[in-house]
Amino acid sequence: MAAGNGAGGVAIALLLFLAMPSALLVAGDDPYRFFTWTVTYGDITPLGVKQQGILINGQFPGPTIEAVTNDNLIINVFNKLNDPFLLSWNGIQQRRNSFEDGVAGTTCPIPPGGNFTYILQVKDQIGTYFYFPSLAFHKAAGGFGAIRVLSRPMIPVPFPPPAADYPLLIGDWYKANHTDLKYMLDSGKALGFPDGLLINGRSWDGYTFNVQQGRTYRFRISNVGLSTSLNIRFQGHTMKLVEVEGSHTMQTTYSSLDVHLGQSYSVLLTADQPAYDYAVVVSTRFTSKIISTTAVLRYSGSTGKSPAALPGGPTIQIDWSLNQARSIRWNLTASGPRPNPQGSYHYGMVTTTRTIRLASSSATVNGKQRYAVNGVSHVNPDTPLKIADYYKIAGVFSVGTISDSPSGGGSAYLQTAVMGASYRDYVEIVFENPESEVQSWHIDGYAFWVVGMDGGKWSSASRQGYNLRDAVSRYTVQVYPNSWTAIYMPLDNVGMWNVRSENWARQYLGQQFYLRVWTSSTSWRDEYPIPKNALLCGRAAGRRTRPL
Ligand SMILES: *[C@@H]1O[C@H](CO)[C@@H](O)[C@H](O)[C@H]1NC(C)=O
Ligand SMILES: *[C@@H]1O[C@H](CO)[C@@H](O)[C@H](O)[C@H]1NC(C)=O
Ligand SMILES: *[C@@H]1O[C@H](CO)[C@@H](O)[C@H](O)[C@H]1NC(C)=O
Repeated sequence: MAAGNGAGGVAIALLLFLAMPSALLVAGDDPYRFFTWTVTYGDITPLGVKQQGILINGQFPGPTIEAVTNDNLIINVFNKLNDPFLLSWNGIQQRRNSFEDGVAGTTCPIPPGGNFTYILQVKDQIGTYFYFPSLAFHKAAGGFGAIRVLSRPMIPVPFPPPAADYPLLIGDWYKANHTDLKYMLDSGKALGFPDGLLINGRSWDGYTFNVQQGRTYRFRISNVGLSTSLNIRFQGHTMKLVEVEGSHTMQTTYSSLDVHLGQSYSVLLTADQPAYDYAVVVSTRFTSKIISTTAVLRYSGSTGKSPAALPGGPTIQIDWSLNQARSIRWNLTASGPRPNPQGSYHYGMVTTTRTIRLASSSATVNGKQRYAVNGVSHVNPDTPLKIADYYKIAGVFSVGTISDSPSGGGSAYLQTAVMGASYRDYVEIVFENPESEVQSWHIDGYAFWVVGMDGGKWSSASRQGYNLRDAVSRYTVQVYPNSWTAIYMPLDNVGMWNVRSENWARQYLGQQFYLRVWTSSTSWRDEYPIPKNALLCGRAAGRRTRPL
């Protein structure tokens, strides 16, 4: 959760990175977990055709990171690809530390043959997250994996411990490799429709979840795909929703769940049916053609496939999805990452200090397809924005290169887009989608309350329908076609934060920008200085980080 970090800030772990990870000095006693990851190409055949996948320690999807609130994660990533590479951490807030965010605007790429040690802290976080490769179109080749952050032992979780906690990464997949897909986008062509869907890297009964009758399991579902919203359901079973992107929710039962690009949900499933193999079904939403895939939910002692029909799911219905989204509520009395109830932060009582309206658009620029926000289609500069900002290198970006309200009509221009904002502001952001395609927006460094969403055009009167009491706090939100979604967000995390479309072609072709949350304070309580091991590139190449 983004808000109410005040008291927790007292026990700051000051990270002094020396030459070796083993020589880390800390003031504070939050545990450390060390990872050494090697990123390589390797053969994978998710849809029956051999492809070059991006593997982490030989695995596709990559290994699951397991952590507990406030753990420090020291992840040394060795890049054995022939391409510059970065991982980013969807939903991990990198408090005071956007240098570690691992996107083009914050972190220099790890060169081929090089390595970089990320130093992350899952400060005041619980819940379900994932990591992914952020540069070029690498995400189309894999390199992603699940992250789960468990509660500290003394903090109550609003449900009994599950018999097992399974990552369930779902997403669409293309048979063309990432370089070919990138080339298509660079040359102005559309990606087209995905070739299939994957569940934990496999299609059609390729992946099995083992369960025992009478037990309850937690499934952590994330949509790690590129282009499509998905729906998931379990044959013969219902799902009890318990967590959304770091928030404990009212525990509502669903027979199927929409998961938009970049979103994560935890559900509990009780194995209360006869011992068979059941299908876990995933299918596309809001697409002209519906494709699907399955995994297997296998009871121990299963005597074969369940005779029941495969469960159907919604296809193009938007109202169904909107109603489901509105039914997801914050459990005000449950604890989040800290012992006090989630509802003790009254997000709806705080006066907003600024309204930012962000309209998405598709436009042709120089004869090529681009995507934009408020008429600006972002281009990455030669130097990460955060690093240029730190060294005060002029000419890389200017603050205010994207406006607070829609402009440009349907047209767009190319620009390195940076919006300025003040630390401690409390903003209302309205995502406006005048297009006919569902959108999904993610903000790095933050979680936010989804106070409203509806069809039509947003106006100040729309505020009357806001949920100012028990809206869920999350970090990725959908915006339905010809609709809007409004969020409240306290700007309590200084840094340079990527705001992006989770539709990967849109993101790649400019539908993103950076929010520079700034303070004049230079205290480490507000923002950490550049990491000592930061790689330096572009116009910052050859500078020193900090004295060792
Ligand atoms: C992608 O496929 C093309 C051929 O279509 C090939 O030339 C290229 O090397 C492949 N790239 C990767 C990363 O596998
Ligand atoms: C690369 O890995 C070595 C250990 O093998 C480590 O000492 C070094 O700090 C890493 N480099 C960076 C930039 O993190
Ligand atoms: C909300 O959380 C409380 C406290 O943990 C729990 O007792 C209650 O069952 C939860 N309510 C719902 C509807 O999930």
